[in-house]
Amino acid sequence: MRKNFFNQILFLASFLIFPIVCVIPSQATENSECQECHSDDSLERAESTGISDKVFVDDHKFKISVHNINGITCVDCHADIEELNWDDDVPHSVSLAAVECQNCHDEEAEAYQNSVHKKAGSKGISIPCSACHGYHYVTYLAPKSIFERVNAFCLKCHNPDNFHDWLPQKSTHFKYVECTVCHAPDSPRYINLRFFDLVSNKFLETSDLVAALDTDIEGFAALLDTDSSGDLSKNEFENFVLRLRQKGIRGTFHGELISQIEPVIHHVNRGEANRDCKACHTPNSPYFERVVISLTSDDGSIEQLQVERKVLETFHVTHFYVLGGTSVRILDKIGLLLIVGGICVVIAHSSARMLTAPIRRERKKKESQS
Ligand code: HEC
Ligand code: HEC
Ligand code: HEC
Ligand code: HEC
Ligand code: HEC
Ligand code: HEC
Ligand code: HEC
Repeated sequence: MRKNFFNQILFLASFLIFPIVCVIPSQATENSECQECHSDDSLERAESTGISDKVFVDDHKFKISVHNINGITCVDCHADIEELNWDDDVPHSVSLAAVECQNCHDEEAEAYQNSVHKKAGSKGISIPCSACHGYHYVTYLAPKSIFERVNAFCLKCHNPDNFHDWLPQKSTHFKYVECTVCHAPDSPRYINLRFFDLVSNKFLETSDLVAALDTDIEGFAALLDTDSSGDLSKNEFENFVLRLRQKGIRGTFHGELISQIEPVIHHVNRGEANRDCKACHTPNSPYFERVVISLTSDDGSIEQLQVERKVLETFHVTHFYVLGGTSVRILDKIGLLLIVGGICVVIAHSSARMLTAPIRRERKKKESQS
């Protein structure tokens, strides 16, 4: 009786398993099938192409790539390999078609279409997406420091020190303004506040900041945003600085100007860059609409805590907008003093004259009499 029951279960189960077993072989080619050969780092092309003959794909680096994480397989990109006859044509005797990133990233491709990099094609070279991004090992584009960002992209091919002679303090600007803020002026941007510790003489990372406040990333906002409004007001921000001080941490916030990672960031063109000092160095610059503190987790994901724009006027943030802003305000005050002073002198002078008028009249009378 018992045996019979088991047999029935097995019989039923085979109906469930059978279709699964049948479906697997007809599914798209597994990455592991490709990696049987391609994870071997000595694998090379039979005929040299003169560039790189390696056809090695690092299994680990591919596994942590944004494409693999999102389920994109080898054959999603190298689609034409599916048409090959696996027995005769692998290793592939025919060359495969170039992978078209725009098949999946049409918005970026469209923004890229009219950029100087795409149009560099007039000289016979159109820069492919992979020149900036790579292909097998693309990772999530987390907003890192400006230095890391531009280093990963623009500095691969350009040395900005060769240009920008009109810009004073070049290195300061390149440190705090991402190239695309000026060069892709259509891309939205924001100010990222980073805390520079004057004792250790370095920027504090998120982990340092949350540890200093005895909290974690989830607790960070709740701790500082006392009225739960979703952003830090000027007062809440000042309390934050105070808390750091109580822990013996003294420093100052630097405002970095960063482009939001959106397709329009690709729209870099010749002669369209921003060079207007006043675009940034005024207190009501349109560049200051969004101010955030970025919290980076260990896995690279980012949370941004919105901060009231007024914090830029506090003494805890370097006043990079002083050139046109506060300094002008100071100048205005000096100007006002001069004007007020001038008026006072005039008033004093004329009132003195008015007061002394009778005396002078007397004196004149005496003079004419004598
Ligand atoms: C039996 C081993 C083997 C397997 C399995 C294999 N490849 Fe290859 N592959 C090679 C070799 C060898 C080359 C170099 C061919 C040459 O140019 O001589 C190559 C070349 C390539 C190239 C470069 C072709 C070109 O035109 O430049 C791509 C892309 C590629 N393989 C993708 C894949 C993908 C995707 C899979 C899985 C669907 C796969 N391979 C499975 C051995 C293999
Ligand atoms: C996001 C798309 C994408 C995925 C996913 C992808 N590739 Fe590629 N692969 C490319 C691009 C782009 C090239 C550069 C040549 C080109 O433009 O076709 C390339 C080139 C290659 C080459 C030639 C050697 C080289 O490094 O240039 C091999 C071999 C290869 N891929 C194998 C694989 C294997 C194996 C997998 C899966 C483990 C895989 N690819 C997954 C986009 C992809
Ligand atoms: C078969 C579809 C497909 C192809 C082809 C493809 N991608 Fe992707 N790509 C994706 C998916 C899906 C994601 C993850 C979802 C997302 O965040 O957009 C992604 C993410 C990315 C990201 C990270 C975006 C971020 O939010 O941080 C970059 C960069 C990227 N791809 C570049 C490329 C490049 C360069 C190529 C060509 C070599 C390419 N992709 C080809 C599907 C594709
Ligand atoms: C000149 C260098 C360059 C080229 C060429 C380039 N990109 Fe980008 N791409 C960038 C930069 C810079 C970012 C923003 C990343 C950052 O600032 O950290 C970006 C961001 C992205 C993102 C994520 C942004 C989003 O829209 O969510 C994707 C996806 C992407 N690029 C795909 C492509 C594709 C597809 C191509 C080709 C059509 C391409 N890129 C060509 C530099 C380039
Ligand atoms: C893969 C190399 C490469 C990368 C990466 C790259 N560029 Fe370029 N860039 C070029 C080439 C090539 C030209 C065209 C030069 C020419 O036509 O004389 C160019 C042209 C330009 C121009 C037009 C100026 C001129 O010389 O006519 C600007 C501005 C520019 N790039 C800015 C950037 C920025 C900003 C980034 C980072 C997002 C970047 N580039 C990333 C290669 C690159
Ligand atoms: C404050 C704004 C600003 C910043 C920041 C900036 N640029 Fe520029 N850049 C300009 C302007 C304005 C020009 C003048 C030419 C133009 O209008 O394209 C220029 C010119 C250039 C040129 C080529 C000039 C030519 O026509 O031959 C390149 C290449 C370039 N920048 C790359 C970069 C890179 C890479 C970075 C980041 C490290 C960067 N720029 C940061 C504003 C800026
Ligand atoms: C895209 C925005 C932007 C533009 C355009 C720009 N700057 Fe700046 N500038 C900044 C930022 C951001 C800093 C550094 C902030 C910091 O030190 O925390 C800075 C720093 C400076 C400094 C150093 C100030 C100090 O206290 O160390 C000077 C001087 C300066 N800029 C002058 C200019 C002049 C002159 C122009 C026009 C030719 C100009 N900037 C254009 C954003 C810009």
